[in-house]
Amino acid sequence: MDKKVTVVGAGNVGATAAQRLAEKELCDVALIDIIEGLPQGKALDLAEAAPIEKHDARIMGSNDYAASANSDIVIITAGIPRKPGMSRDDLLNINAGIMANVTKEIAKLSPDSVIIVVSNPLDAMCHVAYETSGFPKNRVIGMAGVLDSARFRSFIAMELNVSVENTTAFVLGGHGDTMVPLPRYSTVAGIPITELLPKERIDSLVERTANGGAEIVGLLKTGSAFYAPASAAVEMAESILKDKKKILPCAAYLEGEYGFNELFIGVPVKLGANGVEEIIEITLTAEEKKALEKSADAVRELKEVLKKLG
Ligand code: APR
Repeated sequence: MDKKVTVVGAGNVGATAAQRLAEKELCDVALIDIIEGLPQGKALDLAEAAPIEKHDARIMGSNDYAASANSDIVIITAGIPRKPGMSRDDLLNINAGIMANVTKEIAKLSPDSVIIVVSNPLDAMCHVAYETSGFPKNRVIGMAGVLDSARFRSFIAMELNVSVENTTAFVLGGHGDTMVPLPRYSTVAGIPITELLPKERIDSLVERTANGGAEIVGLLKTGSAFYAPASAAVEMAESILKDKKKILPCAAYLEGEYGFNELFIGVPVKLGANGVEEIIEITLTAEEKKALEKSADAVRELKEVLKKLG
């Protein structure tokens, strides 16, 4: 393939993203993890599926960042999940350390790449990747809105018994319970769902979307969602690799847009070969603005904690 994507973290999200990238024949894939044998084993297993899945993407696994050199895109999923007894700030501190180490290696070996951050807490991890890489703001993007809107779209399709392909949805804000789903901008075959569903049904779909991650954790008991998060990261990567210029909700670094400054927050962006090629500003009602403010406060709070932790 003439394109290369590195996926850092060969866990559930990372390995699934590698599989989707390869099976869509979008690029060669380098899978990197700190655990010896894990990326090599998963890469070999995926390569052995290639004759059946009918693709010629090369997939290599390594513990050494040398394998990631000259990537067009680097998807970072490395991190550890919260363990019993660990505070939110402890987790933030550990994952920020991992994100900083990973980003340093990436910036050295793939200085022209676009970084797609997947690790949580997402918005805070975007800040670490942006500051550590020294990359321009268009080349550091967080995956959150595509996943959250895919969840919203699935729930809309289930509710109305229509094809998911007919649905569009917009979810803005931080990735967490302060996210801001926008029913006015969510449609079925171009018809806003506000015309198709009563307010209380929309409210319940919105609530389910905001709790989408927790719903899966509750079912899985150990671990968190990975199929849909991997799909979301791959949709972003595809738009960049093919310069498709899709408008997708992503965490982007704002400098004045929507009234926010020096903050990663989920907004509609145009994704093309240069990463974030445009931030699209849509008009929001006073209520939607207030919800986005609240979401931005939550991101700022994490940013402050990171600053204190140094
Ligand atoms: N360098 C490389 N890989 C690392 C490092 C590191 N410093 N630290 C941890 N990892 C690897 C782990 O070894 C593990 O294989 O990151 C991988 C994470 O995989 P999982 O634990 O399976 O987590 P996953 O479900 O894939 O989620 C990854 O994405 O959606 C988010 O909240 C989720 O932050 C989490 C991330």
